[in-house]
Amino acid sequence: MRRIALALALAASLSASPQAAAQAPDGASAYAEACASCHRTPARFMRRYLDMAPAQRQAELDRFLPGHYAPDAAKRGAIIAWLEANHTRR
Ligand code: HEC
Repeated sequence: MRRIALALALAASLSASPQAAAQAPDGASAYAEACASCHRTPARFMRRYLDMAPAQRQAELDRFLPGHYAPDAAKRGAIIAWLEANHTRR
């Protein structure tokens, strides 16, 4: 179930359609709200995930974040999709 939700959130946030983007939780905003007070940018904590394959990285984050300031599955999915799209290159 979680995988499906994550895949849907990923697909929605990677979609070029403005309508899809408006309906899905916005990963950048969710990050700003839930994470940025402590992690101004994700660059530092993402370092340890950079060598992982995308599916493994997303699974690890989806395992860690429910207990770390992202209890809401939809927001968590959006944040993970946003991290994947913007913060996985060195
Ligand atoms: C109240 C402060 C605080 C907030 C809010 C916060 N974090 Fe963290 N986070 C930390 C601290 C402290 C660490 C441990 C030190 C480090 O690795 O930088 C950490 C570690 C992490 C790690 C590394 C996990 C690991 O395997 O060691 C990730 C990924 C992460 N945070 C993501 C997030 C995301 C995404 C959000 C928003 C949903 C978030 N954090 C919100 C303080 C916070």
